[in-house]
Amino acid sequence: MERGAVSAGGIRAADLFCGVGGLTHGLRRAGVDVRLGVDLDPACEYPYEANNDAPFMKAGVETISGDVIKKAWGEADFRLLAGCAPCQPFSTYSQGRDHTQDGRWFLLDHFARLVEETSPDFVTMENVPRLRDQAVFSSFVGKLEALSFTVTHQVVNCADYGVPQDRKRLVLMASRHGSVELIAPTTPQGKRRTVRDAIGGLRALVAGEMDGNDRLHQCAALTDINLRRIKHSKPGGNWREWPEDLILACHRKRSGERYGSVYGRMSWNGPSPTMTTQFFGYGNGRFGHPEQDRALSLREGAVLQSFPKNYRFVKQGDPILVKEVGRLIGNAVPVKLGEAIGRSFAAHVRGLRGA
Ligand SMILES: C[S@@+](CC[C@H](N)C(=O)[O-])C[C@H]1O[C@@H](n2cnc3c(N)ncnc32)[C@H](O)[C@@H]1O
Repeated sequence: MERGAVSAGGIRAADLFCGVGGLTHGLRRAGVDVRLGVDLDPACEYPYEANNDAPFMKAGVETISGDVIKKAWGEADFRLLAGCAPCQPFSTYSQGRDHTQDGRWFLLDHFARLVEETSPDFVTMENVPRLRDQAVFSSFVGKLEALSFTVTHQVVNCADYGVPQDRKRLVLMASRHGSVELIAPTTPQGKRRTVRDAIGGLRALVAGEMDGNDRLHQCAALTDINLRRIKHSKPGGNWREWPEDLILACHRKRSGERYGSVYGRMSWNGPSPTMTTQFFGYGNGRFGHPEQDRALSLREGAVLQSFPKNYRFVKQGDPILVKEVGRLIGNAVPVKLGEAIGRSFAAHVRGLRGA
């Protein structure tokens, strides 16, 4: 997208913890002019810059000062500071571990510090719903309120905003100019985008194959036993449908009840399950293709995260590191949710201008 295409209401943004640019891309689609992305993972630089007309800064958020962000904004009518700190310390997958020593808890405090140092008009954050129960979140909201922001937050299903995926996320939006609300669902129940809508048109693959026209459309090879297993799984089903000899010993035990959502197949006619950082592995969740006997390809995971089909993740000629690219895709804010957030701020600005 050319910088000239960006307009909406004179909002310029900086995106902390920008990853490969899911949030940035969505904000830009809503017309927000994103001027900077900051992330400490060098693997994010190419996808962030190749798909978004915005510079990437490789740095830890805890090491940067507000001046860097203010310089990137320049003269702007409205300034938005966005930041989606790593969610692993708060995710349900990591419950049971003691995270009190996890330095990433404190990244939200640095986000708050940068809000204080840069005095933006608007702030937004996306994270896992469980963050709402943590003291670090209440403290973050308290700091914003003390800086005269009106803060709203809610848990939304991304499927309500055009994402072909069941993915519940906490969205916080804050403004120094009154209350800003997330726009109403664009694809509520009954109108949700399905797996078929999203990936039905992609080229068929067999397990282990790569599409010659799109290196990202590649899927993992399956062992003979996993190939037999997936052939026995119906769309929407899992290992419980397999013949006894294919079932893993750990699943046979009563405690196997806990593993109902592994080795599953997705179904065509609804949103996909939540894409994790491991969506490319058949045994890692309900990530079997609805009818082909294989796991999802990297491209399919990205499209289910509502990235455009031509979003570039790896430079031409560079090797594709499947685990790394899968992690970056699974960690992203779905583009369509980012777009809904951007449209919400644009509507807020129109209200402020009396338009
Ligand atoms: C949930 S992901 C963000 C996804 C991104 N907003 C998107 O839409 O694609 C969290 C990101 O935080 C980055 N990260 C972790 N610790 C960081 C730090 N100290 N400073 C900057 N970035 C950090 C990770 O590399 C990861 O890309």
